[in-house]
Amino acid sequence: MEGLASLIQCNIGKNLIFLEMVESTNTLAMELGDRNAPHGTVVIAESQIHGRGRLGREWASPPGGNIYMSIILRPMIETKDATLLTLLAAVASARALICLTGLKIEIKWPNDLMASGRKLGGILTETKTIDKKVVFAVIGVGINVNIELEDLPEEMREVATSVVHETKREHPRTILLASILKEIDSWYAIFLKGGKGPLLSEWRRLSSTLGKTVRVESGKEMLFGLAEDIDGSGRLLLKLPSGQVKRICSGDIKTVR
Ligand code: BTN
Repeated sequence: MEGLASLIQCNIGKNLIFLEMVESTNTLAMELGDRNAPHGTVVIAESQIHGRGRLGREWASPPGGNIYMSIILRPMIETKDATLLTLLAAVASARALICLTGLKIEIKWPNDLMASGRKLGGILTETKTIDKKVVFAVIGVGINVNIELEDLPEEMREVATSVVHETKREHPRTILLASILKEIDSWYAIFLKGGKGPLLSEWRRLSSTLGKTVRVESGKEMLFGLAEDIDGSGRLLLKLPSGQVKRICSGDIKTVR
């Protein structure tokens, strides 16, 4: 990651911490947030011992070619709107990837970065809250960049992909990282100034989920219906066969048609 600091020209990433190996960049960023690390602090690692994914899953984090980074943000928002930060990071990462790799990157609700129907990256947002207000948020971004699929755990090879696998050429991670941080910086400014409208519109434009018939596994519940839209807090509006519209906060989606 040499030269990354000189490529960063925005507020987010001015305070940059780079580590060869870490338990999880999100875990470290949460600890730093508790110790008053400033807004925009970014933790990047070459590998993670226990990278964490959504819904308590593990995030495979071998060294040698991927992006594992966590960003500390201190927005003045309510806890219920914290999901919007996840959408923001997904939009920013997708835009940077599209611009630099030329790939058709889509967002699968809520935050999976997809290429050719396979998962290329994901976002894990965690927050510290007091009285229903966000004290700070940590946005964790994991992207498979220059890793070959055989270097990922066997069970993931069918469902995951990487930038190098899709484009057949390696891409400099520093440029991608700097570009994602720049996009996050701009969308964060838009979000603070213009509210959530522009962000939700861009998420909808990049979404591969909306308008599709999907199966949703949410906790112990399995639901089936039309993914109609997302609401102002990023929850999925699922139209059930009965006509009832259900708001889904979290879960896993499979497109049926
Ligand atoms: C998902 O399950 O889709 C979210 C994956 C998020 C992984 C990233 S890698 C950097 C940061 N540190 C972690 O432990 N997880 C996130």
